[in-house]
Amino acid sequence: MKYAQAEQKLARIIEESGTSSHLQQIVDFLYETFDTYSWIGIYLVKGKTLVLGPWKGTQATEHTRIPVGTGICGSAAKSGKTELIPDVNKDTRYLSCFVSTKSEIVVPIRFRGKVVGEIDIDSDVPHAFTTKDVVFLEKVADMLAMHIC
Ligand code: SME
Repeated sequence: MKYAQAEQKLARIIEESGTSSHLQQIVDFLYETFDTYSWIGIYLVKGKTLVLGPWKGTQATEHTRIPVGTGICGSAAKSGKTELIPDVNKDTRYLSCFVSTKSEIVVPIRFRGKVVGEIDIDSDVPHAFTTKDVVFLEKVADMLAMHIC
């Protein structure tokens, strides 16, 4: 399935569910659809902390609460900008969750100019994310924005 089809499918999930269960469905769908997305989580901003919501992957992370400003996740929450990390071992901000992770992308979810959450994806493949993933995931974040605050 390509990005445009995935986008349509996600729009339908959001439209049809109408409750917070759509977040888990979206995470599950992304995990099943994109082979290089090895772990996917949605963090929600609660005050100055990112709190892990729905996630999908083979293992749970110990980083269920991350201060805004800390790690890749906290940096994206602070700046409101997407973080694309081709090699996590070269980024000193990186908070390690899984030994298998090689690359990561974090896309903030903004509502009315404020970061309300983010999509965090770890990949076991180095350099897994391209600008296509950035464009696609920023659209997904926009679709989610009004549903999570
Ligand atoms: N690697 C992230 C922490 C979250 S785990 O990837 C699930 C970071 O550096 O903020």
